[in-house]
Amino acid sequence: MNHSGSDRSIWVPQASAIAREAGARLREFFSAGVETEYKGDVDLVTVADRTVEKLIRTRLAEAFPEHGVYGEEGTRERMEGEFRWYVDPLDGTTNFAHGFPQFCVSMGLEHRPSGAGADEDGTIVAGIIYDPMRDELYTAERGHGAHLNGKPMHVSRIPVLAESLVATGFPSRKRHDSPNIHFYHEFTLRSHGVRRAGSAALDLAFVACGRLEAFWEFNLNRWDTAAGILLVEEAGGRLSDFAGGPFQLNSREVLASNGLIHDELVVLFKDMFAGRDLAPIPTPQEFAQRRAERAAAAR
Ligand code: IPD
Ligand code: CA
Ligand code: CA
Repeated sequence: MNHSGSDRSIWVPQASAIAREAGARLREFFSAGVETEYKGDVDLVTVADRTVEKLIRTRLAEAFPEHGVYGEEGTRERMEGEFRWYVDPLDGTTNFAHGFPQFCVSMGLEHRPSGAGADEDGTIVAGIIYDPMRDELYTAERGHGAHLNGKPMHVSRIPVLAESLVATGFPSRKRHDSPNIHFYHEFTLRSHGVRRAGSAALDLAFVACGRLEAFWEFNLNRWDTAAGILLVEEAGGRLSDFAGGPFQLNSREVLASNGLIHDELVVLFKDMFAGRDLAPIPTPQEFAQRRAERAAAAR
């Protein structure tokens, strides 16, 4: 299996086989049930996360011995390399730990100019996301389109937020610092709905295949986004930070869409950050008071 790691024709096929093997392990752990540990206040990890990261690390080293690997569960190998994989062995750990069947394996391949330092970012050139519960394999190679189980996939054609289904997620660290609930609220009132399904990588894959019109989240990591952003781009969608500027792996803000509603979303973010044009809703206290008044009037 010792090919040259710069041979692009083998990236997606080899990584797809690894993602499928990893996903099969996740399925086994999922049906057997696993114990949960805490990495932080509510940040969970299981034996499945660690075992599957080790499996992916081993398989990548066999398939691409000169490629680097950067994994959520601590793998940092060959970080000076021209090619590096960002690996989330289990995106959606909280779902997994609760038996909620929405999680995936995510692997994104970065290419960097030769001689780049370990802290210099490059361009994502291949992305693979595997959903083991639906047996859905999402793949993309830069410049060669995006595929779902081998068939070309495209973003949706819905042109306005008011007719869109969108998604977001919330961090499991520093939860009290996140303003996202305000965005959740505002998007809920302006769209067909906001899903919070618990796997950022699958959310991005769902934008790429047209099941969602957009996805945003604050403070994601490279292993969450590396594969999904390429899927969205190659499926004809658009990516940016919340200000509409170029998305970068380290930007900690991701806004992904079908492209058609992107400008509308950027304007909404701008207005919200400026405190403009927000739809008022009653506080729980105001609601309780009105309810009491209605009850009193009915007596
Ligand atoms: C999490 C999921 C979730 C997102 C969190 C991520 P993990 O990844 O992608 O949807 O809202 O911000 O940390 O911890 O399950 O790999
Ligand atoms: Ca993740
Ligand atoms: Ca993870």
